Amino acid sequence: MSYINLTFDVADRIATITVNRPDKLNALNDATIAELGVAIDEANARADVGVVLLTGAGRAFVAGADISELASQSPLEAQQRARAGQRVFRRFETSAKPTIAVVNGFALGGGCELAMSCHVRIASDKAKFGQPEVKLGIVPGFAGTQRLPRLIGRGAALKLLLTGDMIDATEAHRLGLADELVPAAGLMERAKALANVMLANAPLAIAGCIDAVNRGLDSTLEEGALAESDLFGVMSATQDVKEGMQAFLEKRTPTFHGR
Ligand code: COA
Repeated sequence: MSYINLTFDVADRIATITVNRPDKLNALNDATIAELGVAIDEANARADVGVVLLTGAGRAFVAGADISELASQSPLEAQQRARAGQRVFRRFETSAKPTIAVVNGFALGGGCELAMSCHVRIASDKAKFGQPEVKLGIVPGFAGTQRLPRLIGRGAALKLLLTGDMIDATEAHRLGLADELVPAAGLMERAKALANVMLANAPLAIAGCIDAVNRGLDSTLEEGALAESDLFGVMSATQDVKEGMQAFLEKRTPTFHGR
């Protein structure tokens, strides 16, 4: 697949998607959002990919939706643009392969929302987060009002949403918006190390954890726990569960094949 607004590289079972409009701080125009959808689908379809890293070129992760496109939209176009973006972001959230946002710089508006759609966020000490939409007279459109309170709680989320303030990586880490805080120079190395830890685990179990968390957060605890027990049952039919337990008993490292 060839891309215009992002790069897609695969090495050692890690796909790295890099939003690549550095002169516009990687602002998400419609074309870039569409390419992100193609890229996450490609990563999920490829047998040589086990984990996906998502980052930005230059000094930004993503500085938001492209304001030059938002400036002239009709109400209906705005609604459709928001829904199209939400569908793409949801594919990062429901990806069967772990998605790690590697937040190298500004993650504002749609950038913060995109990072929140990934399973894990690691941030460089140069990263900045925020939902500045209210400063433009709009509300977030890519489900920021939904994911932010789920991630950091209602009060902290509303504080960010209502002020539109930009916070640094230390504060984002304190709030739980960033799961890890890493010196900028070591960011990608740490992201790959984290990916490798995940890659050593059983792929079907990884996908099961993602599925259970997603299903549980969208339902009651009881419904989520039932979904988990179904997955727990299904896993017992895999070769990997036999390998994982056998390896433990034989005191050796397991080799998983995702079946
Ligand atoms: N949409 C479109 N273009 C954007 C953009 C966005 N969300 N964010 C940055 N850019 C563009 C700027 O217009 C500028 O382009 P130009 O050189 O052609 O004028 C370029 O990226 C560099 O940005 P600039 O503002 O000059 O950099 P800065 O270091 O002074 O400020 C930010 C950085 C992130 C604070 C500032 O760009 C900003 O506030 N961006 C908008 C953030 C936002 O509101 N996002 C939510 C959108 S819904």
